[in-house]
Amino acid sequence: MKTEIYNVKKIGTEEYTRAIDRGAELLRAGELVAFPTETVYGLGGNGLDADACRKIYEAKGRPSDNPLILHVADFEGLKKIVSRVTETAEKIFAAFMPGPITVILPRAKCVPDAVTGGLDTVAVRMPDNQVARDLILAAGIPVAAPSANISGRPSPTNGETVSRDLAGRIGAILDGGATDWGIESTIVDCTEAEGRDTVTILRPGAITGEMLQEIIGVVKTAAPKNTAEKEASLKRAPMAPGMKYTHYAPKAPMTLVTDGETMARELRRRKIAGEQVGLLLFAEDYPEYEVDYKCSLGSRSDIREIAAGLYDNLRYFDELPVDSLLCPVVPDEGLGAAVVNRLRKAAGGRLL
Ligand code: TXA
Ligand code: MG
Repeated sequence: MKTEIYNVKKIGTEEYTRAIDRGAELLRAGELVAFPTETVYGLGGNGLDADACRKIYEAKGRPSDNPLILHVADFEGLKKIVSRVTETAEKIFAAFMPGPITVILPRAKCVPDAVTGGLDTVAVRMPDNQVARDLILAAGIPVAAPSANISGRPSPTNGETVSRDLAGRIGAILDGGATDWGIESTIVDCTEAEGRDTVTILRPGAITGEMLQEIIGVVKTAAPKNTAEKEASLKRAPMAPGMKYTHYAPKAPMTLVTDGETMARELRRRKIAGEQVGLLLFAEDYPEYEVDYKCSLGSRSDIREIAAGLYDNLRYFDELPVDSLLCPVVPDEGLGAAVVNRLRKAAGGRLL
């Protein structure tokens, strides 16, 4: 399949409008279109069409028990795909939507099993991105969209990366340049909220636990804290089914290190063993290390910059002859919690 690629960086131009209309036409015809959101690029398909959803799984090589998020442009579109809106969900809508948050609610009958993986809930998101909004409105349907990467790889934060993963496998790519946040939306389960002021964060993101806490009574996290909890949670049906899979992984195995001393010691040990080691480093530490392959994560005091560049930095080493990677951990608070979550998964839990 030849993938059509459109530049949608200049909003409102004739070229822009043509690209949006073509994207919408392809979506309505059951084809797949990748588009930017404020978090990462999405791989869109008609969210009411089971065949289009199956194409999404196929193009990504994604396990079919990992459900998709439905993207809408407004509250009118949102209310059509859920059967009930809880009070806590209403509070989240008012405070954070449109924005980098996904809410789990009971599904409406029109939502196919191919979207939800057979669950009785559906994940809904209203992106705060003009291209995404215009595309969804022009298509006139909810758009099912996982991140636009081959399953297991870091999510794409620009058009070229989408193209590298998916060109030849999908109908079109709308290239709107770099995304704002660089990591996927916060996922919040609002289904248990009936009569109670409680939500559970299934995946941390730019809308932080602290921000949710300000408007909701009890904010829980689903992330297991230790090995025993992790084993127990793997035996239960997973709440965000995607959380059980390895994710975001660079090609060379990555290990997280807790401090500079450990980084220096581990680097020495690996060099002696003849390994070619790639380093991800805070900008402040970057000049200190003499290695062939290193890249800067950004300043340790600027977590927003670190998040925005993270996936590109992980992918950077894929083209280089490195045997392994070392990466520092960031403070686990605010947006840092989302970055740590992705780093842990990218490292497959390896931590020194
Ligand atoms: O920022 C984002 O959320 C991006 C952009 C494109 O919108 N999308 C994204 O989609 O990250 P994806 O498919 O890569 O991640 C969706 C996650 C998966 O972990 C999936 O298991 C979970 O959402 N999910 C989907 N439906 C669910 C449901 N009904 N209950 C619990 N988790 C659900
Ligand atoms: Mg993904």
